[in-house]
Amino acid sequence: MSHATIETIVNLCKRRGIVFPSSEIYGGLRSAWDWGPLGIELKRNVKNAWWHRMVHQRDDVVGLESSILMSPKVWEASGHVATFTDPLVECTNCHHRFRADHIDLSRNCPDCGQGPSWTEPRQFNLMFKTHMGPVEDSSHAVYLRPETAQGMFVDFQTVQSTSRKKIPFGIAQQGKSFRNEITPGNFVFRTREFEQMEMEFFVKPGTDDKWLDYWLKERVDWFTDLGMTPDNIRLREHESDELSHYAKRTYDIEYQFPGMGWSELEGIANRTDFDLKAHAEHSKQDLSYFDSETEERYVPYVIEPALGVERATLAFLIDAYREEEAPTASGKVEKRTVLRLHHKLAPSKVAVLPLSKNADLTPLAEKLAAEIRSKFVTDYDVAGSIGRRYRRQDEVGTPFCVTVDFDSLEDNQVTVRDRDSMEQERISIGELLAYLEKRLNL
Ligand code: GAP
Repeated sequence: MSHATIETIVNLCKRRGIVFPSSEIYGGLRSAWDWGPLGIELKRNVKNAWWHRMVHQRDDVVGLESSILMSPKVWEASGHVATFTDPLVECTNCHHRFRADHIDLSRNCPDCGQGPSWTEPRQFNLMFKTHMGPVEDSSHAVYLRPETAQGMFVDFQTVQSTSRKKIPFGIAQQGKSFRNEITPGNFVFRTREFEQMEMEFFVKPGTDDKWLDYWLKERVDWFTDLGMTPDNIRLREHESDELSHYAKRTYDIEYQFPGMGWSELEGIANRTDFDLKAHAEHSKQDLSYFDSETEERYVPYVIEPALGVERATLAFLIDAYREEEAPTASGKVEKRTVLRLHHKLAPSKVAVLPLSKNADLTPLAEKLAAEIRSKFVTDYDVAGSIGRRYRRQDEVGTPFCVTVDFDSLEDNQVTVRDRDSMEQERISIGELLAYLEKRLNL
């Protein structure tokens, strides 16, 4: 069971340079975060695991990278200009603003404790607006995309015809999205700039319910196959008043976040033919599909699994976090923090640790680190006691530590320590790479 609170994860991330506030030397920018050396490896591993499963391992999904800035007509057609809003209220005492559906309006203001005295809720559009080119007037306004999905809809015809995919097939994309959230927070759970991993799966109308069921299972399996505790995730269907303007049926994969309770991790929606029809109407282009086998023409329905990269990474971090009792070399029992991350997600796969700074050990340790690095992301650490160095690697989830000691110079063996069991094995140097390859099983 994980022992994490959001605070323990924030502290670990800060201490080890995994994630920390953006622009910190200027006091930070609220809800903007930077991913440091270990964080970017972790985040990339999450993205790669998604891309591998959703694109590379399938014959029926292709990739896309569409532009963040798109014609403003896209967002008029998609309904985002009119309806991508959250209800905003303001405390009449301290003038702080909140999402009306995130607070209890019958209680005092969570910030100043006064009231309750709120302005009437007004609909606030979440899209960031900017201007294209040097003229800052409304005819040059463009939006930063609030979802990657629209790229897949407006490029549907081009991608389908050039990839020669037949329905059912999907288009996947990873990339930045922006939402001017009224109340960002809970670390990287809700931010104004974030990355999404989305896939639009185009199906024949009438087969959409079946495909929704298929993707619900497939997406839950992705998390559990990457080691997420099944008891910490569940599916929840949206009530009709929660559905987005485009959706016929939507499920959330929810994760039990500490301090927040069950909260949305990923959304899986049946978007019907809403988007393709809307773009066909607004662009006056034919976005229908001709099925040459049945000789039918139709506008496909769309099933969409949509996941935030940072939110997924946070859930993997929380799920992997443990505080455990660990025996030290002297026989004492100490507390250790360990990230039991799936090997595929761990930022470094191996750490090479010469037992001491003694110059006799350096050439062999450096040579081994270089060899292992040619295959796996590898850390090299000489500073501090060996016990402390093991703890440092445990804390960032490195699956294996390779220790080079004075015996290694004689017997050509090194000690390999397993992060989870803490068991140590002597392995011959000639077999080390094959051993690590087998144990890491990436
Ligand atoms: N294209 C559909 C769509 O964007 P969504 O439920 O609004 O659906 C999908 O977003 C996922 O993107 C969410 O489940 C969440 O993981 C992530 N996400 C949404 N807003 C976010 C935010 N402000 N900060 C971080 N992640 C966010």
